[in-house]
Amino acid sequence: MGLVRALRCPKCGKEPGSKVVFRCPSCGSILEVNVEVGHLTPSNLQEILQSRDRSIWRWFDFFPVERRASIVSLGEGSTPLIHATRLGERLNMARLYLKNDTVLPTGSLKDRSNSVGISKAKELGFTTATVMSTGNAAASVAAYAAAAGMESVVMVPLGTAPSKIIQARAYGARVVVVDGDFDNEVAQLYKTAIEEFGWYDCLSSNPYRDEGKKSYAYEMVDQLDGEVPDWVIHPTAGGTGIYATWKGFHEFRSLGWIQKLPRLVASQSEAAAPITYALMKGLADIEPEVAGPTVAESIQVGNPVSLGWRALAALRESNGTAVALSDEEILEAQSLTARLAGIFAEPAAATSVAAAKTLRATGVIGSEELVVCNLTGHGLKQPESIRFDNKEFVPIAPTLEALREQLQRAETGE
Ligand SMILES: Cc1ncc(COP(=O)(O)O)c(C=O)c1O
Ligand SMILES: [Zn+2]
Repeated sequence: MGLVRALRCPKCGKEPGSKVVFRCPSCGSILEVNVEVGHLTPSNLQEILQSRDRSIWRWFDFFPVERRASIVSLGEGSTPLIHATRLGERLNMARLYLKNDTVLPTGSLKDRSNSVGISKAKELGFTTATVMSTGNAAASVAAYAAAAGMESVVMVPLGTAPSKIIQARAYGARVVVVDGDFDNEVAQLYKTAIEEFGWYDCLSSNPYRDEGKKSYAYEMVDQLDGEVPDWVIHPTAGGTGIYATWKGFHEFRSLGWIQKLPRLVASQSEAAAPITYALMKGLADIEPEVAGPTVAESIQVGNPVSLGWRALAALRESNGTAVALSDEEILEAQSLTARLAGIFAEPAAATSVAAAKTLRATGVIGSEELVVCNLTGHGLKQPESIRFDNKEFVPIAPTLEALREQLQRAETGE
Protein backbone atom coordinates (compact mmCIF):
# COMPACT_ATOMS: atom_id res chain seq x y z
CA MET A 1 0.00 0.00 0.00
CA GLY A 2 1.16 3.58 -0.67
CA LEU A 3 1.80 5.00 2.82
CA VAL A 4 0.93 8.65 2.35
CA ARG A 5 2.22 11.31 4.66
CA ALA A 6 0.32 14.61 4.90
CA LEU A 7 0.50 17.26 2.20
CA ARG A 8 3.41 19.44 3.25
CA CYS A 9 4.80 22.80 2.15
CA PRO A 10 8.28 22.32 0.65
CA LYS A 11 9.07 26.00 1.31
CA CYS A 12 8.01 26.65 4.91
CA GLY A 13 7.28 23.16 6.22
CA LYS A 14 3.60 23.76 7.16
CA GLU A 15 1.16 20.86 7.00
CA PRO A 16 -2.32 22.34 6.53
CA GLY A 17 -3.92 19.01 7.47
CA SER A 18 -6.32 18.87 4.51
CA LYS A 19 -6.18 16.36 1.66
CA VAL A 20 -7.77 18.70 -0.85
CA VAL A 21 -5.99 22.02 -0.24
CA PHE A 22 -3.10 22.18 -2.71
CA ARG A 23 -1.58 25.54 -1.77
CA CYS A 24 0.15 26.52 1.48
CA PRO A 25 -2.08 28.93 3.43
CA SER A 26 1.01 30.56 4.98
CA CYS A 27 3.40 31.17 2.08
CA GLY A 28 1.35 30.36 -1.03
CA SER A 29 3.69 27.64 -2.33
CA ILE A 30 2.32 24.49 -3.94
CA LEU A 31 2.23 21.69 -1.40
CA GLU A 32 3.99 18.41 -1.90
CA VAL A 33 3.00 14.86 -1.09
CA ASN A 34 5.59 12.45 0.19
CA VAL A 35 4.99 8.75 0.15
CA GLU A 36 6.63 6.66 2.85
CA VAL A 37 8.73 3.99 1.11
CA GLY A 38 11.36 3.24 3.78
CA HIS A 39 9.81 -0.15 4.62
CA LEU A 40 10.36 -1.55 1.11
CA THR A 41 13.04 -4.21 0.71
CA PRO A 42 14.94 -5.76 -2.23
CA SER A 43 12.47 -8.64 -2.16
CA ASN A 44 9.66 -6.12 -2.74
CA LEU A 45 11.63 -4.94 -5.78
CA GLN A 46 11.90 -8.51 -7.06
CA GLU A 47 8.15 -8.99 -6.63
CA ILE A 48 7.46 -5.77 -8.52
CA LEU A 49 9.80 -6.70 -11.35
CA GLN A 50 8.15 -10.10 -11.68
CA SER A 51 4.63 -8.68 -11.65
CA ARG A 52 2.62 -9.13 -14.83
CA ASP A 53 1.29 -5.57 -14.52
CA ARG A 54 3.21 -3.45 -17.03
CA SER A 55 1.47 -0.18 -16.14
CA ILE A 56 2.92 2.41 -13.76
CA TRP A 57 0.76 0.75 -11.08
CA ARG A 58 3.29 -2.01 -10.58
CA TRP A 59 4.97 0.78 -8.56
CA PHE A 60 1.81 1.24 -6.47
CA ASP A 61 3.80 1.53 -3.22
CA PHE A 62 5.41 4.73 -4.50
CA PHE A 63 2.18 6.55 -5.33
CA PRO A 64 -0.12 8.59 -3.04
CA VAL A 65 -3.12 6.34 -3.52
CA GLU A 66 -4.21 4.28 -0.54
CA ARG A 67 -6.48 1.62 -2.03
CA ARG A 68 -5.92 -0.43 -5.16
CA ALA A 69 -9.67 -0.21 -5.79
CA SER A 70 -9.18 3.50 -6.53
CA ILE A 71 -6.84 2.88 -9.48
CA VAL A 72 -7.92 4.32 -12.81
CA SER A 73 -5.57 2.92 -15.45
CA LEU A 74 -5.48 2.77 -19.22
CA GLY A 75 -2.33 0.64 -19.20
CA GLU A 76 0.05 3.63 -19.14
CA GLY A 77 3.73 2.89 -18.47
CA SER A 78 6.57 0.56 -19.47
CA THR A 79 6.92 2.56 -22.67
CA PRO A 80 9.77 1.36 -24.90
CA LEU A 81 13.29 2.46 -24.07
CA ILE A 82 14.98 2.14 -27.42
CA HIS A 83 18.70 2.04 -28.11
CA ALA A 84 18.68 4.43 -31.07
CA THR A 85 21.77 3.21 -32.89
CA ARG A 86 21.29 5.01 -36.22
CA LEU A 87 20.42 8.32 -34.60
CA GLY A 88 23.25 7.79 -32.13
CA GLU A 89 25.70 7.22 -34.97
CA ARG A 90 24.65 10.49 -36.57
CA LEU A 91 25.09 12.38 -33.29
CA ASN A 92 28.25 10.46 -32.31
CA MET A 93 26.62 8.99 -29.24
CA ALA A 94 27.16 5.26 -28.74
CA ARG A 95 24.58 4.87 -25.98
CA LEU A 96 21.68 7.10 -26.98
CA TYR A 97 18.30 5.83 -25.74
CA LEU A 98 14.84 7.17 -26.54
CA LYS A 99 12.05 6.76 -23.98
CA ASN A 100 9.08 6.54 -26.29
CA ASP A 101 6.17 8.10 -24.41
CA THR A 102 4.40 8.87 -27.68
CA VAL A 103 2.77 5.45 -27.26
CA LEU A 104 1.01 6.34 -24.00
CA PRO A 105 -2.82 6.04 -24.12
CA THR A 106 -3.57 9.64 -25.11
CA GLY A 107 -0.21 10.21 -26.82
CA SER A 108 1.67 12.17 -24.19
CA LEU A 109 3.46 11.98 -20.86
CA LYS A 110 0.44 13.54 -19.15
CA ASP A 111 -1.04 10.05 -18.77
CA ARG A 112 1.61 9.19 -16.19
CA SER A 113 0.38 12.03 -14.00
CA ASN A 114 -3.33 11.90 -14.69
CA SER A 115 -3.63 8.20 -14.00
CA VAL A 116 -2.39 8.95 -10.49
CA GLY A 117 -4.28 12.27 -10.23
CA ILE A 118 -7.65 10.88 -11.29
CA SER A 119 -7.22 7.74 -9.15
CA LYS A 120 -6.76 10.05 -6.18
CA ALA A 121 -9.82 12.08 -7.23
CA LYS A 122 -11.85 8.87 -7.20
CA GLU A 123 -10.48 7.93 -3.79
CA LEU A 124 -11.37 11.37 -2.43
CA GLY A 125 -14.90 11.14 -3.83
CA PHE A 126 -14.80 13.84 -6.52
CA THR A 127 -17.23 13.59 -9.44
CA THR A 128 -15.88 16.32 -11.77
CA ALA A 129 -12.28 16.93 -12.83
CA THR A 130 -11.15 20.13 -14.46
CA VAL A 131 -8.10 21.55 -16.17
CA MET A 132 -7.17 24.71 -17.99
CA SER A 133 -5.19 23.67 -21.04
CA THR A 134 -5.08 23.82 -24.80
CA GLY A 135 -3.20 20.65 -25.35
CA ASN A 136 -1.95 17.37 -23.95
CA ALA A 137 -3.21 17.85 -20.40
CA ALA A 138 -6.79 18.44 -21.55
CA ALA A 139 -6.92 15.23 -23.59
CA SER A 140 -5.37 13.20 -20.80
CA VAL A 141 -7.63 14.49 -18.01
CA ALA A 142 -10.67 13.92 -20.23
CA ALA A 143 -9.67 10.33 -21.01
CA TYR A 144 -8.98 9.32 -17.41
CA ALA A 145 -12.13 11.07 -16.18
CA ALA A 146 -14.09 9.11 -18.79
CA ALA A 147 -12.52 5.84 -17.64
CA ALA A 148 -13.32 6.73 -14.01
CA GLY A 149 -16.92 7.67 -14.77
CA MET A 150 -16.30 11.29 -13.84
CA GLU A 151 -17.29 14.46 -15.67
CA SER A 152 -14.52 16.69 -17.02
CA VAL A 153 -14.48 20.39 -17.80
CA VAL A 154 -11.71 21.91 -19.91
CA MET A 155 -11.26 25.70 -20.02
CA VAL A 156 -9.55 27.33 -22.99
CA PRO A 157 -9.13 30.94 -24.12
CA LEU A 158 -11.01 32.39 -27.04
CA GLY A 159 -9.05 31.85 -30.25
CA THR A 160 -7.95 28.28 -29.43
CA ALA A 161 -8.03 26.25 -32.63
CA PRO A 162 -10.60 23.42 -32.50
CA SER A 163 -7.86 20.98 -33.55
CA LYS A 164 -6.15 21.60 -30.21
CA ILE A 165 -9.08 20.52 -28.10
CA ILE A 166 -10.83 18.02 -30.33
CA GLN A 167 -9.20 15.03 -28.60
CA ALA A 168 -10.51 16.15 -25.19
CA ARG A 169 -13.96 16.68 -26.72
CA ALA A 170 -13.88 13.16 -28.16
CA TYR A 171 -13.49 11.73 -24.65
CA GLY A 172 -16.59 13.66 -23.61
CA ALA A 173 -15.05 16.69 -21.91
CA ARG A 174 -17.17 19.83 -21.58
CA VAL A 175 -14.98 22.35 -23.41
CA VAL A 176 -15.62 25.89 -22.23
CA VAL A 177 -14.21 28.69 -24.38
CA VAL A 178 -13.58 31.82 -22.31
CA ASP A 179 -13.36 35.28 -23.81
CA GLY A 180 -10.12 36.24 -22.12
CA ASP A 181 -6.42 35.76 -21.90
CA PHE A 182 -4.98 32.45 -20.62
CA ASP A 183 -2.77 33.72 -17.78
CA ASN A 184 -5.25 36.30 -16.50
CA GLU A 185 -8.99 36.06 -17.10
CA VAL A 186 -9.12 32.32 -17.86
CA ALA A 187 -6.90 31.55 -14.87
CA GLN A 188 -9.05 33.70 -12.59
CA LEU A 189 -12.30 32.09 -13.70
CA TYR A 190 -10.72 28.64 -13.39
CA LYS A 191 -9.75 29.29 -9.77
CA THR A 192 -13.13 30.75 -8.87
CA ALA A 193 -15.04 27.90 -10.53
CA ILE A 194 -13.09 25.26 -8.59
CA GLU A 195 -14.02 26.95 -5.32
CA GLU A 196 -17.62 27.50 -6.37
CA PHE A 197 -18.38 24.06 -7.80
CA GLY A 198 -15.98 21.89 -5.80
CA TRP A 199 -14.28 20.44 -8.86
CA TYR A 200 -11.03 18.46 -8.71
CA ASP A 201 -8.14 20.59 -9.97
CA CYS A 202 -5.88 18.73 -12.43
CA LEU A 203 -3.35 21.45 -13.12
CA SER A 204 0.31 20.66 -12.55
CA SER A 205 -0.06 22.32 -9.15
CA ASN A 206 -1.95 19.21 -8.00
CA PRO A 207 0.59 17.45 -5.76
CA TYR A 208 -0.89 13.96 -6.23
CA ARG A 209 -0.82 14.18 -10.01
CA ASP A 210 2.86 15.15 -10.13
CA GLU A 211 3.92 11.95 -8.39
CA GLY A 212 3.00 9.91 -11.46
CA LYS A 213 6.02 11.15 -13.37
CA LYS A 214 8.35 9.54 -10.81
CA SER A 215 7.67 6.42 -12.86
CA TYR A 216 10.21 7.64 -15.44
CA ALA A 217 12.98 6.92 -12.96
CA TYR A 218 11.64 3.50 -11.93
CA GLU A 219 11.12 2.37 -15.52
CA MET A 220 14.55 3.47 -16.69
CA VAL A 221 16.30 1.56 -13.91
CA ASP A 222 14.20 -1.51 -14.69
CA GLN A 223 14.72 -1.31 -18.44
CA LEU A 224 18.46 -0.72 -18.11
CA ASP A 225 18.79 -3.76 -15.80
CA GLY A 226 19.69 -1.66 -12.78
CA GLU A 227 22.02 0.75 -14.55
CA VAL A 228 21.41 4.46 -14.02
CA PRO A 229 21.74 6.73 -17.07
CA ASP A 230 24.55 9.28 -17.03
CA TRP A 231 22.10 11.85 -18.40
CA VAL A 232 18.31 12.14 -18.61
CA ILE A 233 17.02 14.87 -20.92
CA HIS A 234 13.42 16.00 -20.43
CA PRO A 235 11.36 18.54 -22.42
CA THR A 236 10.43 21.12 -19.83
CA ALA A 237 7.59 23.57 -19.33
CA GLY A 238 6.45 23.85 -15.70
CA GLY A 239 9.25 21.62 -14.45
CA THR A 240 7.16 18.83 -12.91
CA GLY A 241 8.73 16.13 -15.05
CA ILE A 242 12.29 17.02 -14.12
CA TYR A 243 11.48 17.33 -10.45
CA ALA A 244 9.45 14.12 -10.26
CA THR A 245 12.13 12.16 -12.11
CA TRP A 246 14.69 13.42 -9.62
CA LYS A 247 12.46 12.40 -6.74
CA GLY A 248 12.00 8.91 -8.19
CA PHE A 249 15.74 8.30 -8.53
CA HIS A 250 16.23 9.61 -4.98
CA GLU A 251 13.68 7.18 -3.59
CA PHE A 252 15.46 4.26 -5.25
CA ARG A 253 18.82 5.43 -3.91
CA SER A 254 17.44 5.88 -0.40
CA LEU A 255 16.31 2.24 -0.59
CA GLY A 256 19.76 1.12 -1.76
CA TRP A 257 18.26 -0.10 -5.06
CA ILE A 258 20.64 2.11 -7.05
CA GLN A 259 23.94 3.71 -6.06
CA LYS A 260 24.21 6.78 -8.26
CA LEU A 261 21.95 9.49 -9.65
CA PRO A 262 21.77 10.77 -13.23
CA ARG A 263 22.58 14.28 -14.37
CA LEU A 264 19.40 15.98 -15.52
CA VAL A 265 18.88 18.28 -18.50
CA ALA A 266 15.85 20.49 -19.09
CA SER A 267 15.29 21.08 -22.79
CA GLN A 268 13.25 24.18 -23.64
CA SER A 269 12.36 26.35 -26.60
CA GLU A 270 14.31 29.60 -26.60
CA ALA A 271 10.94 31.38 -26.92
CA ALA A 272 9.93 30.04 -23.50
CA ALA A 273 12.99 29.20 -21.44
CA PRO A 274 12.63 30.77 -17.99
CA ILE A 275 14.12 27.73 -16.24
CA THR A 276 17.16 27.72 -18.53
CA TYR A 277 17.77 31.42 -18.02
CA ALA A 278 17.36 31.19 -14.24
CA LEU A 279 19.93 28.37 -14.17
CA MET A 280 22.38 30.26 -16.39
CA LYS A 281 22.03 33.44 -14.35
CA GLY A 282 22.42 31.61 -11.03
CA LEU A 283 19.01 32.75 -9.74
CA ALA A 284 17.29 31.10 -6.77
CA ASP A 285 13.88 31.36 -8.43
CA ILE A 286 12.37 31.77 -11.87
CA GLU A 287 11.88 35.19 -13.42
CA PRO A 288 8.56 34.90 -15.27
CA GLU A 289 8.61 35.99 -18.90
CA VAL A 290 6.02 36.29 -21.64
CA ALA A 291 6.45 33.22 -23.86
CA GLY A 292 6.99 33.97 -27.53
CA PRO A 293 5.71 31.93 -30.46
CA THR A 294 7.42 28.57 -30.99
CA VAL A 295 6.84 25.28 -32.78
CA ALA A 296 7.23 23.60 -29.38
CA GLU A 297 3.68 24.56 -28.46
CA SER A 298 3.24 22.07 -25.64
CA ILE A 299 6.07 23.57 -23.61
CA GLN A 300 5.35 27.20 -24.37
CA VAL A 301 5.25 28.30 -20.73
CA GLY A 302 6.82 31.58 -19.70
CA ASN A 303 5.70 31.58 -16.11
CA PRO A 304 6.20 28.25 -14.30
CA VAL A 305 5.76 30.18 -11.11
CA SER A 306 4.51 27.43 -8.85
CA LEU A 307 6.96 24.65 -9.61
CA GLY A 308 9.87 26.13 -11.50
CA TRP A 309 12.05 26.59 -8.43
CA ARG A 310 11.83 22.90 -7.57
CA ALA A 311 12.97 21.96 -11.07
CA LEU A 312 15.77 24.51 -10.85
CA ALA A 313 16.97 23.02 -7.58
CA ALA A 314 16.84 19.48 -9.02
CA LEU A 315 18.92 20.53 -12.04
CA ARG A 316 21.54 22.06 -9.74
CA GLU A 317 21.63 19.15 -7.29
CA SER A 318 22.09 16.71 -10.15
CA ASN A 319 24.97 18.76 -11.55
CA GLY A 320 22.86 18.99 -14.66
CA THR A 321 22.08 21.74 -17.11
CA ALA A 322 19.40 23.26 -19.33
CA VAL A 323 19.36 24.10 -23.02
CA ALA A 324 17.23 26.61 -24.93
CA LEU A 325 16.68 25.64 -28.57
CA SER A 326 15.64 27.48 -31.69
CA ASP A 327 12.67 26.33 -33.77
CA GLU A 328 15.09 25.33 -36.50
CA GLU A 329 17.05 23.05 -34.15
CA ILE A 330 13.82 21.57 -32.79
CA LEU A 331 12.40 20.78 -36.24
CA GLU A 332 15.71 19.28 -37.35
CA ALA A 333 15.71 17.03 -34.27
CA GLN A 334 12.09 16.05 -34.93
CA SER A 335 13.01 15.05 -38.48
CA LEU A 336 16.15 13.12 -37.43
CA THR A 337 14.18 11.24 -34.76
CA ALA A 338 11.53 10.23 -37.27
CA ARG A 339 13.90 9.33 -40.11
CA LEU A 340 16.71 7.67 -38.15
CA ALA A 341 14.84 6.16 -35.22
CA GLY A 342 11.33 5.66 -36.57
CA ILE A 343 9.59 7.72 -33.89
CA PHE A 344 7.33 10.61 -34.81
CA ALA A 345 7.47 13.00 -31.86
CA GLU A 346 5.82 16.38 -31.56
CA PRO A 347 8.23 19.34 -31.68
CA ALA A 348 8.11 19.95 -27.90
CA ALA A 349 9.17 16.34 -27.35
CA ALA A 350 11.96 16.54 -29.93
CA THR A 351 13.66 19.28 -27.88
CA SER A 352 15.26 16.46 -25.86
CA VAL A 353 17.03 15.14 -28.95
CA ALA A 354 17.95 18.68 -30.04
CA ALA A 355 19.49 19.26 -26.60
CA ALA A 356 21.41 15.97 -26.78
CA LYS A 357 22.84 17.03 -30.15
CA THR A 358 23.94 20.43 -28.79
CA LEU A 359 25.45 19.03 -25.61
CA ARG A 360 27.34 16.34 -27.51
CA ALA A 361 28.61 18.85 -30.10
CA THR A 362 29.94 21.11 -27.34
CA GLY A 363 31.54 18.17 -25.50
CA VAL A 364 29.38 18.45 -22.39
CA ILE A 365 28.11 14.93 -23.05
CA GLY A 366 30.78 12.33 -23.85
CA SER A 367 30.46 9.96 -26.80
CA GLU A 368 30.26 6.84 -24.60
CA GLU A 369 27.89 8.17 -21.95
CA LEU A 370 24.45 6.63 -21.47
CA VAL A 371 21.90 9.26 -22.43
CA VAL A 372 18.11 8.95 -22.27
CA CYS A 373 15.99 11.45 -24.21
CA ASN A 374 12.34 11.49 -23.18
CA LEU A 375 10.02 11.74 -26.17
CA THR A 376 7.01 13.11 -24.36
CA GLY A 377 4.33 13.61 -27.02
CA HIS A 378 3.22 12.13 -30.34
CA GLY A 379 3.86 13.92 -33.63
CA LEU A 380 0.22 13.41 -34.61
CA LYS A 381 -0.70 15.89 -31.88
CA GLN A 382 0.64 18.61 -34.14
CA PRO A 383 0.91 17.20 -37.67
CA GLU A 384 1.11 20.66 -39.21
CA SER A 385 4.67 20.90 -37.86
CA ILE A 386 5.83 18.69 -40.73
CA ARG A 387 6.67 20.88 -43.69
CA PHE A 388 6.22 19.52 -47.14
CA ASP A 389 5.87 20.71 -50.66
CA ASN A 390 2.36 20.33 -52.09
CA LYS A 391 3.99 19.29 -55.37
CA GLU A 392 4.96 16.00 -53.69
CA PHE A 393 1.35 14.98 -53.76
CA VAL A 394 0.42 15.83 -57.32
CA PRO A 395 -1.32 12.69 -58.64
CA ILE A 396 0.26 10.65 -61.39
CA ALA A 397 -1.28 8.43 -64.05
CA PRO A 398 -1.50 4.79 -62.91
CA THR A 399 1.39 3.66 -65.13
CA LEU A 400 4.89 2.44 -64.38
CA GLU A 401 6.29 5.09 -66.68
CA ALA A 402 4.63 7.91 -64.74
CA LEU A 403 5.80 6.35 -61.47
CA ARG A 404 9.42 6.23 -62.78
CA GLU A 405 9.21 9.88 -63.75
CA GLN A 406 7.80 10.84 -60.38
CA LEU A 407 10.52 8.94 -58.48
CA GLN A 408 13.18 10.60 -60.60
CA ARG A 409 11.67 14.01 -59.94
CA ALA A 410 11.72 13.35 -56.21
CA GLU A 411 15.38 12.28 -56.39
CA THR A 412 16.53 15.34 -58.29
CA GLY A 413 14.37 17.56 -56.06
CA GLU A 414 12.62 19.10 -59.07
C1 LIG B 1 4.87 17.14 -24.89
C2 LIG B 1 5.23 17.66 -23.55
N1 LIG B 1 6.48 17.48 -23.12
C3 LIG B 1 6.90 17.90 -21.91
C4 LIG B 1 6.05 18.59 -21.06
C5 LIG B 1 6.66 18.95 -19.78
O1 LIG B 1 6.08 19.62 -18.84
P1 LIG B 1 6.67 19.70 -17.38
O2 LIG B 1 7.91 20.50 -17.42
O3 LIG B 1 5.58 20.40 -16.64
O4 LIG B 1 6.91 18.32 -16.88
C6 LIG B 1 4.73 18.83 -21.46
C7 LIG B 1 3.78 19.56 -20.60
O5 LIG B 1 3.23 20.54 -20.80
C8 LIG B 1 4.30 18.35 -22.73
O6 LIG B 1 3.04 18.51 -23.17
ZN1 LIG C 1 4.44 27.36 2.99
